[in-house]
Amino acid sequence: MKTNNQTVIVTGASSGIGQGIAIAFGKQGANVVVNYHSDEEGATSTLEKIIEGGGKGFIHKADVGKEDEVISMFEKATSEYGTLDVLINNAGIQKDSDFSSMTLDQWNKVINTNLTGQFLCAREAIQLFEAKKQASPDDKAIGNIIFISSVHDIIPWAGHVNYASSKGGILMLMKSLALEVAPKKIRINGISPGAIATDINDEVWKDEEKMKELMKLIPYKRIGLPEDIAKVAVWLASPESDYITGTTIYVDGGMTLYPGFVDNG
Ligand code: BGC
Repeated sequence: MKTNNQTVIVTGASSGIGQGIAIAFGKQGANVVVNYHSDEEGATSTLEKIIEGGGKGFIHKADVGKEDEVISMFEKATSEYGTLDVLINNAGIQKDSDFSSMTLDQWNKVINTNLTGQFLCAREAIQLFEAKKQASPDDKAIGNIIFISSVHDIIPWAGHVNYASSKGGILMLMKSLALEVAPKKIRINGISPGAIATDINDEVWKDEEKMKELMKLIPYKRIGLPEDIAKVAVWLASPESDYITGTTIYVDGGMTLYPGFVDNG
């Protein structure tokens, strides 16, 4: 399944899930805008793999929580490739803390990148999609946005209230926007990953004891890989999934199945 000449912006593409998704689109021959915030080396390596895989692209530094930087990123993408077909709204951070000692800065930073950042990027993408020639009801979508969220959009997470709140917010942002733009043939969906081995949780998967504990939360008994998410993202942005909008796909090895209820309850 080749997505060919799609132009795709992937935010937070210098590592982890975003990197995996950007490379997967590269393999489909897409033009990929590799957004990063601070890890230029990581972004460069993502781009190299995109090109090796037969795609094209460029790296672009922008803080997704800053309106002016987001606007210039979308301008750069369209001046380079003329249009946009897919936005992968992925950039996200964690700033963990007990609730009573959580600083306003920890709260604001997480909400700003994870939720406001996804709003700002989605708004620019929607404006570009709306400017395209209106499709008739029988046509395929003229644009796709995929919100990369987390199982913590529905699983509460003690010690991570800022993060879980941002992800819960993404769920309603995604669904409400999907409802608003569906008649314009714009599809909006979410992917909610479970535990995927990336930098964000390396202190867990690099530690044998913590991994044992983590496996109790994963019925499928393995940690996920960025490619597990990337494959779903490519499909969800392709005409193969054209009738899906406003849905979240949980890619989590069963983490959302209440694993504590095995032989219990
Ligand atoms: C978090 C990871 C965590 C996973 C499962 C993700 O959204 O970023 O740190 O391992 O959820 O709890």
